[in-house]
Amino acid sequence: MAPSSTLPYITSHIYTVYLLFSTTLHLFLQIFLSLLSLPATLNTHLLHNGARYLEEHYHTPNAFALITGATDGIGRAFALELAERGWNIILHGRTQARIKPLLEHLRQKYPRQTFLPLPIDAANVRAGGISQALQELVPGVCVTLLINNAGALPPVRAFSGLSDEEVIDNVAVNVTFGALVVKALMNGWFGRRACVLGMGSVGAVMTLPGTPTYSGSKSFTRKFYACLRTQLSSPHPAFATPASSSPSTQLEILPILVGGVRTKMTPISEDGNIFFLTPQAFARHALAKVGLGREVYGYFWHEVQMWCITIWPEEGGMRGWVNKAMMRGVEKLRAEGWRRLSDGARMVDGRLVERGDGH
Ligand SMILES: NC(=O)c1ccc[n+]([C@@H]2O[C@H](COP(=O)([O-])OP(=O)(O)OC[C@H]3O[C@@H](n4cnc5c(N)ncnc54)[C@H](OP(=O)(O)O)[C@@H]3O)[C@@H](O)[C@H]2O)c1
Repeated sequence: MAPSSTLPYITSHIYTVYLLFSTTLHLFLQIFLSLLSLPATLNTHLLHNGARYLEEHYHTPNAFALITGATDGIGRAFALELAERGWNIILHGRTQARIKPLLEHLRQKYPRQTFLPLPIDAANVRAGGISQALQELVPGVCVTLLINNAGALPPVRAFSGLSDEEVIDNVAVNVTFGALVVKALMNGWFGRRACVLGMGSVGAVMTLPGTPTYSGSKSFTRKFYACLRTQLSSPHPAFATPASSSPSTQLEILPILVGGVRTKMTPISEDGNIFFLTPQAFARHALAKVGLGREVYGYFWHEVQMWCITIWPEEGGMRGWVNKAMMRGVEKLRAEGWRRLSDGARMVDGRLVERGDGH
């Protein structure tokens, strides 16, 4: 019988051999499964014609798209892209003043379309506030595309260093507001066929160390859309919808997982990195997914990035190591971008523009 001091030594060796074996098997199975799902991935990113689906199914006469957080970044890019495609748009932003520049630009460029402002501070929304604001804006408006995009990242610092208000506001913007917008529209504003394009984040898939409330709230969003989709496809009496949300409404729930996009949230200016694209390019990629009706990555290379992390098993620490290694470089670039923003630079259409640079 082995002396008791050698027992932990033997056990740790057995555990190491087990880890090596299980990790190899796990990787092998993951790669095999990925190969099996390759046709679906190719269909998602290459073959599916979401732009045509959007036009044929949702772009009906007098219909509106509602974009939350339309004043900057990806939301603004969605607004510019949809306006170019002839849509009427309700532009949500925190105040009239924040919405005004985009509203005026769109009204001037596309005088035959309708653009309406919906000013609501998402960190401060109250019960019934969204329905009331929609009612006051245009009674009976028919929304066939909701781009639930508003989101915020609190300052990246130690969690204990955030103020209570920063924590409350972040959860309100990323969680409560988005859920209430969907609910308000389901209770009377959606057209017969409508699509909810919900902006999620890879923060719900990987672990972003500096942002517990952001990643946590994006995990909520991910589950929220998954449950909603299941609920809508399971006509159980317990899920009966109020009379006002017409039972004949066919709602497509399309949660989009978003990786690095060059906005003030990820102020990375370097050109030529395939993993960080401009908001305009991202908006086009995301709209190309309409019709798929399930959670998808908006952009192929974001899916590849997450694949490199998620093929590793949780146990053994490899996933955490790959996650950390990938984030180290990104966080360095982001920190440099935030420093330049605080020095007066701005993100304009995916580029960091220094103060006084003529934009
Ligand atoms: N960029 C990325 O790398 C990335 C990665 C993963 C996920 N996402 C997600 O993509 C979505 C868009 O992000 P983005 O990169 O475009 O960020 P952004 O440039 O900061 O834009 C966010 C939008 O949300 C609005 N917003 C924030 N707080 C608000 C509040 N309290 N009330 C009303 N509106 C508010 C912003 O308004 P203001 O202009 O007034 O601030 C802006 O219009 C978010 O849901 C984000 O989580 C982005």
